[in-house]
Amino acid sequence: MAHRIGVLLSGRGSNFEALAESISAGRIPGAEIVLVLSNREGAPGIERAHARDIEARVIPSKGLEREAYDRLVVAALREKGVELVCLAGYMRMISSYFVEQFRGRILNIHPSLLPAFPGLEAQRQALDHGVKFSGCTVHFVDEQLDAGPILLQAVVPVQDGDTPETLAARILVEEHRIYTEAVRIVLEGRFRLQGRRVLLTPSPANPRGRGN
Ligand code: GAR
Repeated sequence: MAHRIGVLLSGRGSNFEALAESISAGRIPGAEIVLVLSNREGAPGIERAHARDIEARVIPSKGLEREAYDRLVVAALREKGVELVCLAGYMRMISSYFVEQFRGRILNIHPSLLPAFPGLEAQRQALDHGVKFSGCTVHFVDEQLDAGPILLQAVVPVQDGDTPETLAARILVEEHRIYTEAVRIVLEGRFRLQGRRVLLTPSPANPRGRGN
């Protein structure tokens, strides 16, 4: 049976689209996105899902406490038999209830080299700080914001003329690449956890292992 993925997003949905495209192209064997969920009405990512004939729902969060909201989200994910949850531009903190229900099976992509610049506007934070390199991180989600064990990172140079937008665009290319790679690693079980460290284990096709 296919590995069933649920994607949570709040906006544009380019990371969702990159994952969907990778699956269509056979770069994540045996995977299927069975549900896209958004907390925001009108998120372009929802339209992108419809265009690909992927079920997409909006669960508005207005007026609900964090855990009450997450109970609705978890119920929807369970109803669809989701095995792996991918946060893709999902601009909400998730509750410990949610983390507990999918422990070790929630991934997030963040547009900085964590633990630098967690939270909002990571690319602007990087420019304001004056770093010469930034990048992106795929990590497992735990109870803390942008803090779980790191699966993959990619480094991107900062250029003198960069604005948050130009830096974000350069990072986004790498986000799309490493999110696909990370999902594949997780679904193939090609990692083990040693404390906070995620050690990648060799695949049969590449016995020396593959780093990033
Ligand atoms: C991406 O850059 C993603 O890394 C970031 O939001 C953007 C969503 O773009 N996520 C966060 O900042 C989470 N803290 P997308 O909707 O086109 O995938």
